[in-house]
Parts: sequence; C-alpha cells; structure tokens
Amino acid sequence: MASLQLCLPFSSTSRSQFRFSYGRVRCSSERQELFSRIAPVYDNLNDLLSFGQHRIWKRMAVSWSGAKTGDNVLDVCCGSGDLSFLLSEQVGSQGKVIGLDFSKNQLSMASSRQDLVSKACYEKIEWVEGDALDLPFSDCFFDAITMGYGLRNVVDKRKALEESFRVLKPGSRISVLDFNKSTQPFTTAIQEWMIDNVVVPVASGYGLAEEYQYLKSSIREFLTGKDLEKLALEIGFSRAKHYELSGGLMGNLVATR
Ligand SMILES: C[S@@+](CC[C@H](N)C(=O)[O-])C[C@H]1O[C@@H](n2cnc3c(N)ncnc32)[C@H](O)[C@@H]1O
Repeated sequence: MASLQLCLPFSSTSRSQFRFSYGRVRCSSERQELFSRIAPVYDNLNDLLSFGQHRIWKRMAVSWSGAKTGDNVLDVCCGSGDLSFLLSEQVGSQGKVIGLDFSKNQLSMASSRQDLVSKACYEKIEWVEGDALDLPFSDCFFDAITMGYGLRNVVDKRKALEESFRVLKPGSRISVLDFNKSTQPFTTAIQEWMIDNVVVPVASGYGLAEEYQYLKSSIREFLTGKDLEKLALEIGFSRAKHYELSGGLMGNLVATR
C-alpha cells in the first residue's frame, strides 16, 4: 500500500454552533465532533464509568479476534487506541497493527500514549485517519479485525461490517465489542438506570453530560445480538456468534469470513 495516511475533511464546527437533538447524534460529522470533544477525558471516563471493567472486556475482544504472532491486524474506530495496544502485544514486533479512526483528536491521544511507553511492539502500530464506511485498504488484507464501541456509533452498520468483511482474509475473524442491546427488559432497565444515574452525572463533572446522554439512544437504536449475527451472515461471514458479557450489559460479536 503506497500510503495509509488517507485524510478526510475534518469539520471545524465550533461547540457553540453544534446542537444535539435530545441526546440524538444523527450524522457522521456530528459524531466526529462528539468524539473529538470527549477525546481528552475519554480514557479516564472509561475507567471511572466501567469501574475498570472495560479493560477485561477489551482483552476478551482481542482474544476472540484470533490475532496471533506476526499477524497484520486492524482496529476499526480505534479511538485512543486501547484495543490497538492490546492487539500489538498479541501480534508482537513481527506483526503490524493499524488503528483507524475519523477523529483527529482521538488519534492524537493514541499517538501520545504510544510515545509514552517504550515497548518494541508498539513501534509497529500505525494510526490512520479514515472512515470505517470506506476503509482505505485493499481486499483480503488483514488477518484479524477488532472494533470496540465503534459499530454502534457508525451511521451505517451494514456498510461498516461489509467493509470489514472486504478487507479481511478468508478464514479470518472480526471481533466487535459494544454495549449489548438486550432483549431482557430487566437488563435494559439496569443499563438505562446506570446511564442516567452514574454515567451522565459523572460525565457532567467533566462538562460532558449532553455527550453521554447520547449513549442511551445509541443503545436503543443498536442491533440485538441475534440481529448482529443475522446481519453478519447476510453480508457473507461464514460463522457469527454473539456473546453477552457482564450479565448482558456488554456484548461481543465474533464473525469469521
Ligand atoms: C466509543 S469510541 C471507542 C474507541 C475505542 N475503540 C475504545 O474501545 O475505547 C468510538 C470511536 O469510533 C470513532 N468512529 C465513529 N464513527 C466512525 C467512522 N465512521 N469511521 C471511523 N471512526 C469512527 C469515533 O471517532 C470514536 O473514536
């Protein structure tokens, strides 16, 4: 590949110009703005809001991706890079990790974290500004893909999975970690209670209440585990299995091309 540094136009809409509609964030550029704004505190908030549990879920997601030493792997919607760093430890210095995101701010957080830790394998991570709906890679290029808390946030979930399918090698897997849209009313009630009573109040301490209110509608509009499995099979994946984590609060789709 000649150059991986595919740059997309980056909106310069200021915070004052930006408006939410009752916690709903509709188009791609609004989502790009949202993730750029939360980038500086995103890692701290993840630890606080999940009581550190997100680190365990992310390890599981990487393990389910099947990435192994020497592999060439992709982390779609990498944000500040948690999954990319874990993937890098899995594939080692002989392997290669690409972390892709459309938020410049998130990628710059990822890059600063990479500079802070001197691990040989981290030197093989490359950050690419790009769109999950139009991946700048050739067909059948990667040995494994992860997507952590990204699929729920893209405007076209089918297109995102189709793109990942296209760039995966036959027989390779994608592991998609996200909030679970539960079919159990009790689980949904707990999830929504936690968002209203823990997540939004904590986020508001950082001046980000509106941004985190979006979480509830994004889960409501997401796909259930069964729907995710069905979608992956329709796209052409040969196998698809969704696992519920932490009592159904989180979920992880594992699909094999
Ligand atoms: C909730 S964060 C998750 C970050 C990271 N994967 C993690 O698990 O901590 C979602 C990320 O998806 C990115 N994103 C959303 N839609 C995207 C798209 N169409 N293309 C690329 N990145 C996108 C956002 O910029 C954001 O960094």
